Order: sequence, then C-alpha cells, then structure tokens
Amino acid sequence: MQIVRTLAHLRQVLDDLNSKGASLGFVPTMGALHAGHLALVEEARAQTGVVICSIFVNPLQFNRAEDLARYPRHEEEDLALLKPAGVDLVFMPEVGDLLGGGWEPPMYDLGGLDTVLEGAWRPGHFQGVAQVVGRLLDLIPCTDLYMGLKDYQQCLVVQRLLDLRPGQQPVLHRRPTVRDAMGLALSSRNLLLSAEDLERARGIARTWRWMKEALAPSLSGAASPMGAASTMGAASPMGVVPLSPSALIEGGLHRLEQEGLRPEYLSLVRDGTLDPWSGPADYGLPRALFAGWLGSVRLIDNELLAP
Ligand code: PAJ
Repeated sequence: MQIVRTLAHLRQVLDDLNSKGASLGFVPTMGALHAGHLALVEEARAQTGVVICSIFVNPLQFNRAEDLARYPRHEEEDLALLKPAGVDLVFMPEVGDLLGGGWEPPMYDLGGLDTVLEGAWRPGHFQGVAQVVGRLLDLIPCTDLYMGLKDYQQCLVVQRLLDLRPGQQPVLHRRPTVRDAMGLALSSRNLLLSAEDLERARGIARTWRWMKEALAPSLSGAASPMGAASTMGAASPMGVVPLSPSALIEGGLHRLEQEGLRPEYLSLVRDGTLDPWSGPADYGLPRALFAGWLGSVRLIDNELLAP
C-alpha cells in the first residue's frame, strides 16, 4: 500500500498505475475510519483493479470552525485498517497542497440540492463537498466512485456534480449505511460522544423502527396502529386511516426528544430525491432524514421506511 502525501507524488504514482490499464475505484473519506468506510473499500476492492482511498479533513465543508478543529484525526489507526483491506494507494494531502497553489474552488450550480435540509442548516457545506470531490476527481481519474447512503443528500449532490462535469465520469456506487448491533449508524463523530450520549444516539434507530411500524399499515392498506387520538388524516372511504406525513414527523420528533436528542429536522422525502413525500398515495417510498444534537455533537442519519 503506497502512502502519498503530495500532488507531485500522486501524479507520478498514478502514471505507473494507469499504465496497467485497470479500472480504478476511489473512496474519498475524512479519516477516523470505521466499518462503514471499510464496506466502501471492500466493494471497491471486489469490483475494481486498483483501489485508492483519500483521507482529507476538508476545511471547505465545515461551516463551524470549532467542528473542524475537533474533527477526529487518527492517521496511524486509519492506515492500519486500510492496509489489510487491500487498498493500493492512500492519498493524504496537506490542506495547502490540495487546495492551494493557485487553485480556485469553482462555484457549482447544484440545482437547489445544496440549500435544503442539511444545506439549509449548514450553509455552504455542500458547495464545499462538491468543490473538494471535484478537486479530487480532477487528480484521480477513477472509473468508479464509492460513497455511503449514510450521507444520502451528499450522494445526490455528488451525482449532480458528476452530471455537471465534462467528459467521461465515474459511476457512483451508493452503499447502504453500516450500523452497530443496536442500529446506530457508524460515524466518525460517534467518537466524540460519551457513553450516555452513545446510548441516546441509539434512540435514532429506535425512532426509525417506530416510524416504520406506524407507517406499515398505511403502506399496506390496513388500519393504522396509532389510535384514534393521534393527529392523523381523515378516514378513507374504505375505513383505513392513512397516516399523514406531518403526523409521522410529529410522532418521530416527539420520540427523538424523549430519547434525549435535540432534533434540527426530521423530514420525509420521496426516495431517490429531496422532494417531500406526500403520503401513502405517493408513487414513491418515504425516506426519513434526521439531523440533531447530543450535547455539542451533531449527528445525521436517514432510513428508508419501506416495510
Ligand atoms: P466521511 O464522513 O469520512 O465519509 C466518507 C464516506 O463514508 C462517505 O461516502 C460516507 O457516506 C461514508 N460513510 C460514513 N459512515 C458510513 C456508514 N455508517 N455506512 C456506510 N457509509 C458510511 O463524507 C465525507 O467523509 C466527506 O464529505 C467527503 C465525501 C470525503 C468529502 O470531504
């Protein structure tokens, strides 16, 4: 496994690798790696001839200096995980080398994907993600790009970025979220949580289960289990009470708060888009998106609520 820290060295190593003519899988990360990142590497390893992983804590995507300063950095442990995973090249540039040297971050037209949900709460975040991913793709001419659905909105933004870029672009592979045995989505930020807050964070997965159970009868056309006193839509002619998106969100928010989380948003979108999900009659499936706080740590998660 080659460890490359400068752009000059990267160009040289890529020349060697390109001459082998293999497909090239790329996994961009910010380090503090866990099994979620490794699942992406594993898929790249299985599907492509050469696997490159980048570790770069990208200042352009942090809208709070404090968040950037305390983002976990575990270089040695990260390299120890990547080597047995079969990574060929780890690219770990310095900020000044990757983002300096006269390079100007382009402003992308992300079609509004960057200004709602996460984008509304973290202004500039997705521009920063698109800029750094664009920069990395300029340097690393991969055929396949691997990203996690843990960051659902980021996947949509990066697909938009690929659509905007000229020429042949890599195929974006979106991997399901890796969770612990209790359903907590693995995240580098979990390292910043106390034991009590980790337990509270698992309340997100409990809320997903509750929302799925609440929704299942509406999606399958049976009566809702929420009871007559809940804030649901009117009874349908068939006697089935369809669960309204706002009732589901209200119930979910209530549960998240009971679990000790401070939600910023809980939204339902039509899966594959950021459009609001309009209820059981919607032609698409609902995906729930959450962001919220435990102490000073901000967590995000999302889940497809299909049965
Ligand atoms: P980072 O948070 O390190 O995540 C790197 C990749 O791992 C992303 O594609 C993310 O969605 C994926 N990932 C994180 N946790 C996961 C989990 N539990 N299951 C599956 N995949 C998971 O996302 C970023 O870095 C940055 O924004 C980046 C794209 C590198 C640009 O700076």
